[in-house]
Amino acid sequence: MRILGIETSCDETALALIEAKSGLKKPVFKILKEVVASQIEIHRPWGGVVPHLARREHEKNLPIIFRQVSNPTHIDLIAVTVGPGLDPCLWSGIEFAKEINKKLKTKLVGANHLEGHIYSFLLTQKEINFPAVQLVVSGGHTILVLMKSIRERKKIGETRDDAAGESFDKVARMLKLLYPGGPEIEKLAQKANAKAVGFPRPMLNSKNYDFSFSGLKTAVLYYLKENETAEKADVAASFQKAVVDVLVQKTMRASKEFGAKTIILSGGVAANKFLRRELAAASRKQKIKFISALPKYQTDNAVIIAVSAYINFLTGRKYKLTSQPDLGL
Ligand code: KG4
Ligand code: ZN
Repeated sequence: MRILGIETSCDETALALIEAKSGLKKPVFKILKEVVASQIEIHRPWGGVVPHLARREHEKNLPIIFRQVSNPTHIDLIAVTVGPGLDPCLWSGIEFAKEINKKLKTKLVGANHLEGHIYSFLLTQKEINFPAVQLVVSGGHTILVLMKSIRERKKIGETRDDAAGESFDKVARMLKLLYPGGPEIEKLAQKANAKAVGFPRPMLNSKNYDFSFSGLKTAVLYYLKENETAEKADVAASFQKAVVDVLVQKTMRASKEFGAKTIILSGGVAANKFLRRELAAASRKQKIKFISALPKYQTDNAVIIAVSAYINFLTGRKYKLTSQPDLGL
C-alpha cells in the first residue's frame, strides 16, 4: 500500500511517500519520495524553536512540498503526526492533512512521533532478534523500550526532566555555540579531554531505568561560572562523556536484565558518533547485536511516520485526529 506521511511536530516540515508491503514478521518498505524542509536557520538566532514561527513556516511549506511529493500518484493512506510535539505545529499538519484528504478522499490516520523514531530501525532491513532493548534519544525524549516483537513493546524507563538532546542544546547555549547544540558539542569535543571535568552521572546507580539530565546541566552552569577561563572543548567533551556514560550503562543493564538479543539506537541524538561507538562497543562485549537507525532517518522526517502508520495498520493501533502535545507510548 502507498502511504503519505506528514510530519510537523517541531521544526521540520516533512512529507514522504512510501510503498509498504508484507506482514509484521518482515515488513518491507520502498521510499518513493521524501522531502524535509528544515527551519534551523529561522530558529537559530533565538537559540531554540519558536512555536509560532515554526507553525508559520509549516503552513507556508506544506502545500509546496505536497506538490513535489504526491504528483501524480495514487495514495491509499495518509498519516499525520498528532503528538508528541508543539501544539501549534501539530495543528498545522493535522489541518493540512484534513484539507488534502477532502480532495483525495482516501483514509487519514493519526501517527505517534515516538513510534516513528521507534520503528525507524525497520528501514535498515536488518534481521532483528527479539527481545530487543531500544534507546530512543531525541531533543524531546529519552526513553528505553523493551520490544518482545514488532507488535509488543513496553516503555521501561524515561527521563524525569530534560531529554538528552535538550541537555546538549542547553549546554551548547552556555558554551555560546549555535543551535542545535548536539552536533556543535560533538565537533568541539572531538579532540578534547573528556576526563578534564568530573561532572555527575545522574541516576547512574538508581535501580530503575529512568534518566535525569537537568542536574548535569546545572553542574555545567556552575562549573562555567566558577571557572571563567575553562577550556570550552574540555567542558564539552566531559559533559558529552557524562551523558553517554549514563545512556550506555543503563541501556546495557536493561539489556542484561531482559535478556536482549539486539540493542537498537534511534532518535536525533543517535547521530552522535561517540554515543554510537560506545554503545556498539558495549554491545559487542556482551555479545548482543547492535543496530542504529540509518543516519538520514534518525532525525525528524516523514518516512518514519509513514513506516509507523503501516505497523499500526497491521496491528490495528489507532490515534485520534487531534493535537496531543504530550502523547506517550
Ligand atoms: O529526533 P530529533 O531530530 O528531534 C526531536 O524529536 O527532538 O532530535 C533533535 C535533537 C536535538 O536536541 C539535537 O541537538 C540532537 O538531536 N542532536 C545531537 C546530535 N545531532 C543532533 N545530539 C548530540 N550529538 C549529535 N551529533
Ligand atoms: Zn523526533
